[in-house]
Order: sequence, then structure tokens, then C-alpha cells
Amino acid sequence: MQKYVRFYRYQKYARLAHLVERLIDVEKAAGSNPASRTRKIWMILFYFFVLILCLIVCVLLVLFYVAQIVAAFTTDAPFVPIPQETVEKIIEHLKLTNDSVLYDLGCGDGRILKRAAEKYPSLKAVGIEIAFVPYLFAQWKTRKNKNIKIRRENIFTANVSDATHIFFYLFPEVPKKLLPILKTKCKPDTRIVSCDFEDKQSEPTEIIELNPLAKRGKKLIVYTI
Ligand SMILES: C[S@@+](CC[C@H](N)C(=O)[O-])C[C@H]1O[C@@H](n2cnc3c(N)ncnc32)[C@H](O)[C@@H]1O
Repeated sequence: MQKYVRFYRYQKYARLAHLVERLIDVEKAAGSNPASRTRKIWMILFYFFVLILCLIVCVLLVLFYVAQIVAAFTTDAPFVPIPQETVEKIIEHLKLTNDSVLYDLGCGDGRILKRAAEKYPSLKAVGIEIAFVPYLFAQWKTRKNKNIKIRRENIFTANVSDATHIFFYLFPEVPKKLLPILKTKCKPDTRIVSCDFEDKQSEPTEIIELNPLAKRGKKLIVYTI
């Protein structure tokens, strides 16, 4: 009786071993199949490409944040763009025409200039930006607008003598330093519009409330030379 049991067990294991052997054969056959090998190579290349792409994105992100940190210490105001929905209102209150020469001092990514140039196709627009990353963004964003020039310069030393309109969104202390300089450089009737921050020493021509509850772009302070 025991003999039969042992034989039966042997039969069971033999069948299992046979099955495993067949599976190995199938895998081997697939491995030697040129189509499957090509598919494997493409898969490896794909994963490699994704890995390289992830690495490039990580490096760019690190560079972006490093540049932002450096800019925070080396410029007079950080790159904090005006919300896109406020841009339209600002353009409206700048009171531009097709003959205007508009400067955005500290133009960031150039969004104000771009919208103004789209609305007034013959206007001349100039962006002054000192920080490298926003300067690149502005160059890229305005690459198709022939009437926009982005200059990598300091707002305190830039030549703005041909301006008819000047806009800036620069943080607390900057308008106080900048306005006296602009008064000596700009021609009479230049409309200077500061967003949110005013120079308490200068009398504004007009204060325009945009959205008092907004974090950025609450009001415009207008000065006329
Ligand atoms: C608050 S952001 C305003 C960006 C843009 N005008 C807007 O409204 O979206 C200020 C910008 O001014 C630039 N900036 C700060 N100090 C500057 C300086 N001395 N010369 C030129 N640009 C400067 C910063 O790099 C930053 O991009």
C-alpha cells in the first residue's frame, strides 16, 4: 500500500516539474524572439528617457529656486507677478494710446507689457528687469511682439527719457527712492503709475481702488510729472 502512495506522490511532483520545465521553455523561446527583444530594448530606452526627463526637471527646479533666492538678496524687490485678472484693469487705468511709450520698471515676466502691446499694436513697450530668471521669462513671453523690448538693466540707472507712461509694482521702500529719480529723468506729463505702494513724500494725482480685498493689486497710485 505504502508503495502505491509513494508512487502517486512521485507522479504528482513529476507533473509539476514538467509544467515548470515547459514554462521555462516558453520564456526562453520568447527571449530569443527578435520582436520581443526589440520591444524590451524600446521599454528600456523609454524608462531611460523618462529618468533623464525627471532629472532635467529636478535640476531646472533647483536652479529656479536658487536664482530666486539669489534675486531676493540682490534686487530691490522679489519677483511677485501681478495676478493676470488685475492686468486688464491696470492697462485700462494706464490710459495708453497707440502712440504711447510704456515702461514697466521691474517688468518680471513682462505680462503688463504683453497685454498692453496686444491692445495697442503701435505702442512701444520697454521692460527693465535685473533678475536673470524673470528676464528670461519676459524675453520668451514677448518673443513674438516686435514692439516690446526687454532690457536687463537696473531701474535706478536705466534711461527712460522717452517714456510717456511708466508702471511699476515694487515693494514698500522702492517707490520712495525711485520717484525723485524719475522726476529728474522724465519729460513733462509722463504718467507714472505705481501699484499698491506709494511714495509718501510725493503728492499723487489720483488714487484708484482696484480690489481692496485682493492680496496683490489693491490700488494704483498715479503721479504726473
Ligand atoms: C513685484 S515684481 C513685479 C513684476 C511685474 N512688474 C508685474 O507687475 O507682474 C518686481 C520685479 O522687479 C525686479 N527688480 C527688483 N529690483 C530691480 C532693479 N533694481 N532693477 C530692475 N529690476 C528690478 C524684480 O526682479 C522683479 O521681477
